[in-house]
Amino acid sequence: MGPPGVGKGTQAEQMQQQLGVPHVSTGNILRAAMGDVGSPLGEKVRRFVESGGLVPDALMGDLIAERLERNDAKAGFILDGFPRTLEQVSILEDVLSRLGLAVDRVLMLVVPDAEIVRRLSGRRTCGSCGAVFHLESRPPVVPGVCDVCGEALVQRPDDNEAVIRNRLKVYTDQTLPVADAYRAKGVLVEIDGSGEVEDVRARLNAGLGRVVGRS
Ligand code: AP5
Repeated sequence: MGPPGVGKGTQAEQMQQQLGVPHVSTGNILRAAMGDVGSPLGEKVRRFVESGGLVPDALMGDLIAERLERNDAKAGFILDGFPRTLEQVSILEDVLSRLGLAVDRVLMLVVPDAEIVRRLSGRRTCGSCGAVFHLESRPPVVPGVCDVCGEALVQRPDDNEAVIRNRLKVYTDQTLPVADAYRAKGVLVEIDGSGEVEDVRARLNAGLGRVVGRS
């Protein structure tokens, strides 16, 4: 977990290769639904995502249950962007207990607000495969073109200033209490998300072996 633009998706994409478990991003699931033009789910979630608000908990619960019950998640998974409310913490507990699992680590990335604005304003995403770039810190080889699939790079509609402000407020109001809940359970590890992507990854790897509140 961590605020918008802190680097959750960038790191989770790399960790899935390293750990051999899928990266389950609720943001990516919702964007895929929105990309499926005319789909009832896409139309239902669009206004929430494009305004920077949260999609209702019950709908997110159904989506996450369906995703975590698939075969490729049997050996574990990296959740990115869920849970984001205290109600979603309970939903996740229910889904995991049905699967005989429990959350064993919550890694929370933290960077100063100015760096968040820099990362989000320079982010460019592939409209086709979803690969993520940054104009300065992770530029594509050919400007405006995805290194992975050759399609055009675009700016996410929720990466404009007004929506970013709302996403940060929603994070503070609704998602920071989730961090407090996991801190109280002794599974939260706070990680400094500043610096090079590789340096952050090394801190995350160290965090996987260290849980605050336990030896
Ligand atoms: P989501 O897609 O999850 O958005 P988010 O949490 O706001 O996070 P981002 O994807 O913006 O950022 P990130 O932390 O993944 O950063 P990234 O790696 O791209 O959710 C979108 C929306 O969907 C929500 O607003 C909500 O409406 C809805 N939603 C999703 N989940 C929901 C839920 N559970 N309940 C209800 N609604 C939900 O990095 C950002 C940029 O920085 C990139 O350009 C990257 O290249 C660059 N970068 C990364 N690391 C570094 C580094 N170390 N140094 C320099 N640049 C870096």
